Amino acid sequence: MPSLLALGVLTFIIYYITNYYLALSRNIAKAKRSGIHYVVLPVYFLNRFWLIFHRLFLPVLARLPRKWTTWVDFCIPDFPFLNSVETFEKIGHDTFLTVAPGGIILNTIDPAVITQITTRRNDFPKPTKIYRSLDVYGKNVVSTEGAHWRQHRKATSPPFTEKNNHLVFSETIDQASDMLTSWLGPDGKGNVTVDRVMDDTMRLSLYVISRAGFGRKLQWPAADSKADVDTSYADPSKIQNAKDERDPGHSMSYTYAIHCLLDNIIVLFVLPPWLMERLPIAALRKAREAYVEWGNYMKEAVASKKKLLGAENTNNESMDILGQLVKGQLQSETSKDVHLTDSEILGNMFVLILAGHETAANSIHFSLLYLALNHKSQRAVQQDLDRIFQGKPPSEWDYDRDLPALFGGMVGAVLNEELRLLPPVIGIPKSTFGVSDQRLNIDGKDCIVPSDIYISLCAVAVHRHPKYWPSGKPTLPGGRPIHPVANTDNDLEEFRPERWLVDEDGEVQTLANGKKEMPGETVTSDGLAVNESADTSDKLYRPPKGAYIPFSEGYRACLGRRFAQVEVLAALAVILQNYSVELAVDEWASDEEVISMDEDARADVWQKAAAHARDLMLNGLSVIISLQMRGGHVAVRFVPRGSERFPDDADDIWKRNHPDLVVGAVKTPDYVFWNKQTRANVGAVGVA
Ligand code: HEM
Ligand SMILES: *[C@@H]1O[C@H](CO)[C@@H](O)[C@H](O)[C@H]1NC(C)=O
Ligand SMILES: *[C@@H]1O[C@H](CO)[C@@H](O)[C@H](O)[C@H]1NC(C)=O
Ligand SMILES: *[C@@H]1O[C@H](CO)[C@@H](O)[C@H](O)[C@H]1NC(C)=O
Ligand SMILES: *[C@@H]1O[C@H](CO)[C@@H](O)[C@H](O)[C@H]1NC(C)=O
Repeated sequence: MPSLLALGVLTFIIYYITNYYLALSRNIAKAKRSGIHYVVLPVYFLNRFWLIFHRLFLPVLARLPRKWTTWVDFCIPDFPFLNSVETFEKIGHDTFLTVAPGGIILNTIDPAVITQITTRRNDFPKPTKIYRSLDVYGKNVVSTEGAHWRQHRKATSPPFTEKNNHLVFSETIDQASDMLTSWLGPDGKGNVTVDRVMDDTMRLSLYVISRAGFGRKLQWPAADSKADVDTSYADPSKIQNAKDERDPGHSMSYTYAIHCLLDNIIVLFVLPPWLMERLPIAALRKAREAYVEWGNYMKEAVASKKKLLGAENTNNESMDILGQLVKGQLQSETSKDVHLTDSEILGNMFVLILAGHETAANSIHFSLLYLALNHKSQRAVQQDLDRIFQGKPPSEWDYDRDLPALFGGMVGAVLNEELRLLPPVIGIPKSTFGVSDQRLNIDGKDCIVPSDIYISLCAVAVHRHPKYWPSGKPTLPGGRPIHPVANTDNDLEEFRPERWLVDEDGEVQTLANGKKEMPGETVTSDGLAVNESADTSDKLYRPPKGAYIPFSEGYRACLGRRFAQVEVLAALAVILQNYSVELAVDEWASDEEVISMDEDARADVWQKAAAHARDLMLNGLSVIISLQMRGGHVAVRFVPRGSERFPDDADDIWKRNHPDLVVGAVKTPDYVFWNKQTRANVGAVGVA
């Protein structure tokens, strides 16, 4: 018997190894034929097993001789984020294939290649199978391709109008004012520490999309009531509290349901509903209940819209997204057009919330943190706000007059720069799944992209490509690079919104190829709301086409781009008009201690908080739905302008007092190869 078992195991191993080599050599042959540079790897990083367990293997692999493990660099799922352009520089190609037994992946940071791929929608479809988890309520505009996608896109794009953006603007101003008030503390002096900026910006963007998308105005909670946000859903007292404001016939309030739903979204993607109901875990059952409840709220909303529209039958332009979706459905019922089913309407409303919620919230959150780290840029933003609004209260701000000014000035530059460094989708997924081999021009050479491969447009790395971006010398104290291996001789890894500002003659600072790009064309193709006009105001630097893709590009570009831009600009304007965002130093000094400090001592304590914040901005970010800070919090304060506690040139003062210390990347886990290998480059970190 044992020998039979051994034989069985041996046969399996031989079978497995044979298959492994056959698959690998098949893929290598394909890669050779393509004419594209390639590297051969032992694992396909989209392999489910590897995706889940690679973090366990990394510390072990890190102990092996480096020359055995160079492949690992390409198999860490976020490698273009961790390594930035360094991987591509080391390889010497801006486009290359990784070839493994499980599959081939094309990685690119070449704007010309990116543009070919985003404009050839039928040749390079989205890999819809990786989006299937978005279908929890129904098919939708994000998760479909081909004819289905056209139908969804036609149905979802009408509400994304300038008219609706006016609503986004005014609603953001209202909600952001309440948010700011909640941050200032009872006496409005701003001497309270805020460590929930991320949660609150998430709430802000949820409220804005609820209003501008679904006609549902939500009220910012008073400082003492937190019932509907706290994530401890299993706590019965909080659920009780949430139930108090529930609508008749519901077991949860709308706000509670949506928060609970979004907080548990990953669980909902992964576990089947029947299992969630049966597992004896209260939080899971709550999540399931939230899923059902939010669906019920939406179904009711759809039904009442239908009744309203059926009765009215007018062409009401000032309609929210839900109204437009239902109207589209009603109209096409009477014509021959295919129409969205009720579940597809729900599916679209859900992904609009999902797509529009975390992304915009992160942009506000990260912009504030970057500004807290860069006092001089923050002062420039505030001076620009003074110029634009002349001290006028938000009630007198005007979308048509003021938004272009915000967009074309420092606030727009801050948003652009934040999205350059931290685009929420760090690698835009494309593919050749289900299509034949595709020709692709790479560096003037005709290449063949094999069919059935995954493609990653590495947004985060092309955004830092020295060939396409104006740059200067590293500006951190001591002249050390902020990133241990990438762009060590320039400032492209740093937040420097000023790089977007074009001087009087319309010239930006030095660009390696010496060119200045012209504004892109606007094409609107058959009602699909594909707007090819560049992402940035024409007052700011225009990167070459394909070099700046935070919202993706081409047909499958973000539908909510303008929506998001309006929201982020308005929120930053409200917050920064009269207040400054500062790093909180509670961990290192009490308020009384700070009051008694001289400027040098303040610069020292500030530098400690800054080192912590810079570390989190580099090593504390990771992706679940979008790129978010999951490794900790950066606590901040919002203080009246003029009462800032730390000097504008805290970095310079600190440097003057500590000529032998440097600031750079701080703690990084050992298993991250790029850092271990180059620890020397990071050097002794300044803040002891
Ligand atoms: C800073 C904020 C935002 C960023 C950076 C962003 C970025 C993106 C990106 C990169 C894509 C392409 C994703 C892919 O190819 O898989 C996308 C698609 C999409 N986004 Fe956004 N987004 C933002 C905000 C919003 C908002 C506020 C909404 C809606 C209210 C929205 C709605 C959508 C939709 C519907 C799609 C799918 C479009 C299609 O496939 O036809 N986004 N977004
Ligand atoms: C904030 O500062 C004011 C005076 O500037 C002081 O009276 C108040 O107690 C402070 N509040 C906190 C929470 O420290
Ligand atoms: C249009 O719709 C909005 C919101 O649904 C409503 O307040 C308004 O009265 C409608 N206008 C007309 C002319 O029907
Ligand atoms: C900022 O202060 C000005 C002048 O006091 C006031 O009119 C305006 O409403 C304030 N802005 C905000 C966003 O509260
Ligand atoms: C395209 O986008 C730009 C900037 O976001 C906007 O000004 C323009 O009106 C849009 N064009 C169309 C046809 O929607």
